[in-house]
Amino acid sequence: MSDKAKFQAIKGVRDILPPESALWNRVEQTAREVFATFGFVEIRLPILEQRELFDRSIGGETDIVSKEMYGIASPLLVIKGMLLGESKFPGLKRDSSEYLRFLMSLSAFLVVARDALQSKELGAQNERSIHELDHAFQAGLTHFPNADPSRESERQQLRKDVGELVSRIEVEDLSLRPEATASVVRAYIEHGMQMLPGNVKLYYMGPMFRRERPQKGRYRQFYQIGAEVLGSSDAPGIDAEVIEMLMMLFERLNLKGAVLNINSIGDKNCRPAYVEKLRAELQKVREHLGEDSKRRIETNPLRVLDSKLESEQGIIANLPRIADHLCRDCRAHYDEVKRQLGLRGIAYQENWRLVRGLDYYMRTTFEITAPGLGSQNAVCGGGRYDGLVELLGGPATTKGIGFAIGTDRLVLSLQEAGEGETPGGLAGKAGGLDVYLAWFGAAAQSAAIGLAGRLRDAGFVVELPAVEMKFGKSLGLADRLKARHAVIVGDDELAAGVVTVKRLSDGTQQKLGEQELFSYLRAVQSAGD
Ligand code: HAM
Repeated sequence: MSDKAKFQAIKGVRDILPPESALWNRVEQTAREVFATFGFVEIRLPILEQRELFDRSIGGETDIVSKEMYGIASPLLVIKGMLLGESKFPGLKRDSSEYLRFLMSLSAFLVVARDALQSKELGAQNERSIHELDHAFQAGLTHFPNADPSRESERQQLRKDVGELVSRIEVEDLSLRPEATASVVRAYIEHGMQMLPGNVKLYYMGPMFRRERPQKGRYRQFYQIGAEVLGSSDAPGIDAEVIEMLMMLFERLNLKGAVLNINSIGDKNCRPAYVEKLRAELQKVREHLGEDSKRRIETNPLRVLDSKLESEQGIIANLPRIADHLCRDCRAHYDEVKRQLGLRGIAYQENWRLVRGLDYYMRTTFEITAPGLGSQNAVCGGGRYDGLVELLGGPATTKGIGFAIGTDRLVLSLQEAGEGETPGGLAGKAGGLDVYLAWFGAAAQSAAIGLAGRLRDAGFVVELPAVEMKFGKSLGLADRLKARHAVIVGDDELAAGVVTVKRLSDGTQQKLGEQELFSYLRAVQSAGD
């Protein structure tokens, strides 16, 4: 294999090529138009954030945070992780070579940390801990360099001390974002957006990253179009309007067969009691559950309801349902969301198992499925997250609700339904060549450059060959590029002050002055020819 052929897109990521990219543009452009009519404005967010932002908001126990995040591995971070791992099991019996390795890791950490201090990558507040680590290292080296059994307890103490000191050092820990709600909330707090009048309505679009097992509709770099409403009100009408906006977008895109599922997962008053009840019931059937669900009895029993495992479906059907355990306020909120959806003529299915895989949700959750996607059929997910702004250090009074559409899946579903073609509009224009401007001779080239500029100014799509070609070859290329017209400029045309216009669909040809050419092309365009 030649060197050039070696590079391919990495696993789970892909190129979006024309003409598919035209459909992406249409989807994104339509979203911008629809969202604007509801008063949403765009926020552009960074792709890199502190890992802890996601840890705190999405939840450390969730699959997204515990298994799927892409971190940026700096040497300091990697060695810190190693040392912390070591110190977790100070009592573990180790031989002398392992003890030496520990000292070597510590020495490597100190070398990199001192450099980082100097370059200010590490803040000056870490100086003291690094100094103490230096001492610990010296002590380890001089006092008990080998595995003398009589000094084992001292070595264990050293590991513990080192662990504590290392954990205090604030090493930058960055991740590629797996979603954007956390970033929106971070930006809302950072820029004091609670001072803005009314609800803050923001939308975003862009790539997200999760290390999942790739399959149709599931990628490691995927794209979302999302929207969030932040403000002091948690009125159910906001929930319903956000869903209305989504349904309007899907309708505008001609997405057929979208099904809206909704649920309420309660709040901090009623959910804990339900979760305990669920946990107790799950304990009773533990033996019949798969490994993931067994683990989730402890970590997050709600997520068991999400399970797709065939053997668990019968068990799940008999578990207690959150709908029967909502407190009065949550029940009233949920009932009103449903009434408000009714006012808007929006059809929905209630799905008591819809708990979603991120910890920040409370009360309303929803998901929309679309056909043609196989098992990854959720084209959009969202819900209310009233406590999140406070959790991330913002005002307790700010509530939030939003959604994110999986753009890859939306596009896939539209393609499966034959909506891939994009006649007219911005995207159609980019795909169609109005004029292939063939020129012959140096004088004609200069005239053609000028004419191409004027045609493009008028909005026509023009291809201008960069080098002179033989007549037959040039017109052959015009055909292969599927140009609507070849406009020919040669010595004869220059002398007569005209161009030759050839309609490539039927070969008809005429000579026109520049004004006539523009009128002719405009007439063709408006006739949609
Ligand atoms: P999510 O359910 O994790 O929610 O993702 C939303 C949508 O992104 C999914 O319904 C799916 O269409 C798409 N998606 C997720 N993972 C992948 C993947 N690996 N490949 C392709 N598409 C994928 C959130 O991200 C929340 N931030 C939504 C939200 C906004 N809730 C409130 N505000």
